[in-house]
Amino acid sequence: MRHHSHPAESYFQTWARLLTTAAANAALYHPQHRQVLRLNRQTLEALQKIFAQQGSLTVKIIDEQVIFADQPVMNNLSVERLQNALTRNGISHLHIEPGIYAEELLGLVNILSKNPDIQTNISDSEHIAYGRVAIRYQQTAGRSAPVLDLSDIVGFEADRYMDIYDRVKKKQKLELSGIEEIVSGFINAFNSQSEAFLAIAPLRSMDEYTYTHSTNICMLNLAQAKVLGIEGQLLNDIGIAAMLHDVGKMFISPEILSKSEQLNEDEWRIMQQHPRLGAEYLINTPGVPRLAVVTAFEHHMRYDHQGYPQTTQPWPQHLASQMTAISDTYDAMRTHRAYEEALELDQIMAIMLDLAGTKLHPQLTYSFLQVLSGFDKNTPDQNNIC
Ligand SMILES: [Fe+2]
Ligand SMILES: [Fe+2]
Repeated sequence: MRHHSHPAESYFQTWARLLTTAAANAALYHPQHRQVLRLNRQTLEALQKIFAQQGSLTVKIIDEQVIFADQPVMNNLSVERLQNALTRNGISHLHIEPGIYAEELLGLVNILSKNPDIQTNISDSEHIAYGRVAIRYQQTAGRSAPVLDLSDIVGFEADRYMDIYDRVKKKQKLELSGIEEIVSGFINAFNSQSEAFLAIAPLRSMDEYTYTHSTNICMLNLAQAKVLGIEGQLLNDIGIAAMLHDVGKMFISPEILSKSEQLNEDEWRIMQQHPRLGAEYLINTPGVPRLAVVTAFEHHMRYDHQGYPQTTQPWPQHLASQMTAISDTYDAMRTHRAYEEALELDQIMAIMLDLAGTKLHPQLTYSFLQVLSGFDKNTPDQNNIC
């Protein structure tokens, strides 16, 4: 592995060693054991040295590699332990700000000490932010596959979403505030596995299009964006854009939308209007992020400039639209339709790999597949933390 030694790297190594040792001790004894508290204090001191050089600390796990200060860190036992502990807890990003206090750091020690099968509530604290992808596992054909379909959303959010779409259908004013809350709810759910999130019955029997599809795309896009390190307002806008990408379908007749056989040429022509109809609707709706208009318009365009709407000039497709195209492709294959077998994850991955560079943006597709396969590989097991 290519490796540049980094001035702060030895501090990072020390920090990783102390942190994972603290976690191992917490697992062995008790989180309040004096041994743990001592190690936690030392971990905090090591952290201060990193802050002095770096301002803050960001750790990312990309393709099983620990990244610190945008550089891959040389693997040693502590770094490997840290990587394992983070991965088993579904943490792909960890950001720590100066000002962190011992009690707060102990929270992280605690999380890393736990067997992920024991439900831990991983939520951001004042100076710690977790980039966490909320993925559940589903047994299919003897192997566990990650599932991102968020059918388990708290009821009122689902109802509100249906309400939003009802208004669109009736051409009433779109209430964006509801969507914003849903998206921020998703983003929070990414960061903390809230109980409400997990507790809801696994399948809501709801019209696939109006609800599940949009929430799937939202979650998948947020997962993609988070892996790219996107945060803040852009992350929110990406989520909102994903929720609204197919809003134009509300202007297409239900007979065409729900037709299970192949569409004829006329029907197909009508169906292909939905990006334009969606964009036109959204551009005239106050408060809608511009990105949502762009994404609605561009999400069926292709990396190779095929797709629709057709433009006279090659059209640069926005990152959010490209991510939507990727999520859309995945979701279409993943969704079980009555008349066709849902594909296995590895089949889907093979197909998507094949589409990388033609229909889909290659690097973004690889990144997406890495998210999926990473979580597949790292299915929680009984391995001890140390
Ligand atoms: Fe669409
Ligand atoms: Fe779609």
